[in-house]
Amino acid sequence: MDHTSLVDIANSMVQKGKGILAADESTPTCKKRFDSINVESTEENRNKYRNMLFTADGIENYISGVILFDETLRQSTMEGGVPFPDHLTKLGILPGIKVDKGAKQLANTGDEKITEGLDGLRDRLKEYYDLGARFTKWRAVITIGENMPTAYCMSANAHALARYASLCQEQGLVPIVEPEILMDGTHTIDESYQLTTETLYNVFYELVSQGVELEGMVLKPNMVLSGYDCSEQASVEQVAEMTVDCFLNTVPAAVPGIAFLSGGQSDELATAHLNAMNQIDNTPWNLTFSYGRALQAPALKSWSGKDENILSAQDAFMKRAKFNSLATKGDFSADMEN
Ligand code: 13P
Repeated sequence: MDHTSLVDIANSMVQKGKGILAADESTPTCKKRFDSINVESTEENRNKYRNMLFTADGIENYISGVILFDETLRQSTMEGGVPFPDHLTKLGILPGIKVDKGAKQLANTGDEKITEGLDGLRDRLKEYYDLGARFTKWRAVITIGENMPTAYCMSANAHALARYASLCQEQGLVPIVEPEILMDGTHTIDESYQLTTETLYNVFYELVSQGVELEGMVLKPNMVLSGYDCSEQASVEQVAEMTVDCFLNTVPAAVPGIAFLSGGQSDELATAHLNAMNQIDNTPWNLTFSYGRALQAPALKSWSGKDENILSAQDAFMKRAKFNSLATKGDFSADMEN
């Protein structure tokens, strides 16, 4: 497979001023989101909702790529019936696809998770490429808790991430490598720092061992944060400094970019953290966003399943997209929120 095109795609995904929209909620996750606004999760409503996001006027100014779910990759715009991958490509936005089959119970552990989906992956990737996808996502989940994470869980997930990534590159698709340490729990930011460091060591050991080209991938990690229920919450500056420091110690400079997940942070904090990191000027990689909830939450609420709310929902989505775009350059300021 052509090395240059993988590198070009990866660089385009993480270019300054743009980031990735994660709209790849699985059908059960989408149902959860729709339940929160009392909208039935039918195939048609999911299509309408994604259509609202992808046809927002000017989306291409802030969004470099969109991660789709299998069903969404096969759906089309409501007006004109253009398949979503073609619609996005025409706008200069790269279509991506979530290819993992979810995090399941890891055998011989209390409640740790392993991500499934490697069997038959090569054939699925070929089909996704033909349908227009140019990058992929695989999410591994690491939980902090009593006696967790185990070294076994970290290494099993890192191994699977690297197997996934090498298959994707073989098929000309740029892998988003996503090891997510959950924010749930009472852990301190120091514990998050230590465990994010260990996780990333494992991940890069496996990526290198399995021949993954670091120039042709994108890392999608958690930020280094205090646990949701930790009594002492770190400041924005502390999060930015510790996150960048953690990655300087673990992520090779060959990786073109780091696109953070939001992981349940508020929309405002997710933007503020990214902005503060981009005000630190010694990073070898571009730092951008690959947010799901932090880009969509206000738009979802504003839409509430009603056609007459589409324009206001698109405005709400574009506001978050623009603020996060500014944050990729360190040009955001908190008073813009008002
Ligand atoms: P959040 O930004 O809502 O964490 O979602 C990003 C994502 O793609 C998780 O896999």
